[in-house]
Amino acid sequence: MAANQSDSETAVSPTVVVKLGGAVAAVPAKLADLIGDVGELVAAGSRVVIVHGGGAEVSALSERLGLKPRMVDGVRQTTAEEMDVVDMVLCGLVNKRVVRACAGAQLSAVGICGSDGDLFAVRRLAGNGVAAADASHTGEVEAVAPALLHHLLDAGYVPVVASPAHLAPDVPMNINADAAALELAPALRAQALLFLSDVAGVLSDGVPVAALTPAAAEAEIARRTITGGMIPKVRAAVGAVTRGVSSVVVGRYEGRHTLQRMLAGRQGTTIHAVADAAAPVRSGRHHTEG
Ligand SMILES: Nc1ncnc2c1ncn2[C@@H]1O[C@H](COP(=O)(O)OP(=O)(O)OP(=O)(O)O)[C@@H](O)[C@H]1O
Ligand SMILES: [Mg+2]
Repeated sequence: MAANQSDSETAVSPTVVVKLGGAVAAVPAKLADLIGDVGELVAAGSRVVIVHGGGAEVSALSERLGLKPRMVDGVRQTTAEEMDVVDMVLCGLVNKRVVRACAGAQLSAVGICGSDGDLFAVRRLAGNGVAAADASHTGEVEAVAPALLHHLLDAGYVPVVASPAHLAPDVPMNINADAAALELAPALRAQALLFLSDVAGVLSDGVPVAALTPAAAEAEIARRTITGGMIPKVRAAVGAVTRGVSSVVVGRYEGRHTLQRMLAGRQGTTIHAVADAAAPVRSGRHHTEG
């Protein structure tokens, strides 16, 4: 990972935001290995913030409770009833699972959500032909107050962030975790943002591409080769690169040191800023991908 030479403080302690999809967090052995990677990054001096999703588990519990989850372009349209499920699953089940996995690796973690320490100021999200009232508990981050995260990092804790926040004291809001990670990384002046999902990278015609530019990403969305949950992820990845996060990679957890390989650009799909003329739009598979 390239350190920011203009900022001596961040050059000493690079900040890495790791966004875990629910599929990684749900498999104990994978999660334990991943936290082992985090431990090595922390031991080497990085400040690591974990952000997690858990959409599949939210949908599974919603359906068991007789609710009908609805997604538009990969973003959940959250009713008041489903918002309770979102809070229970993300802020409870998944968040504590990740915190306890950290404890298993002798890392002290603190699990919070977007409401804690006023981390996220949010607004209601409407769009994609969905009226705001129909998605009344789906929000987007308007501003980040990173003070709590800095306090935790300064004290040696690994923050584990579930994305739900609130619009008013009695109005909890669900926020897509990729979109939340997009806002957190620049607010922390992070050098790297890694998206760990259940796919080897961004697939084009079934093949993971090694590199993607913002223009190519929008073209793939328009021709519907990027769909569902990959839409907010790719848009978040592009947004992060555009906002100065130098290393943004989408990939799958493939065992020990996956995070280090992604940081080195040796695994997953690296998103390149448009100005980076050296970046090919697509360059086929990595040797390490099966
Ligand atoms: N072009 C594409 N390349 C890769 N994945 C794609 C593509 N188009 C659609 N997808 C889908 O996007 C999914 C990943 O997004 P998803 O929201 O399901 O997971 P996540 O964001 O990693 O986890 P969570 O939502 O729990 O945080 C993949 O499992 C795949 O089905
Ligand atoms: Mg997702």
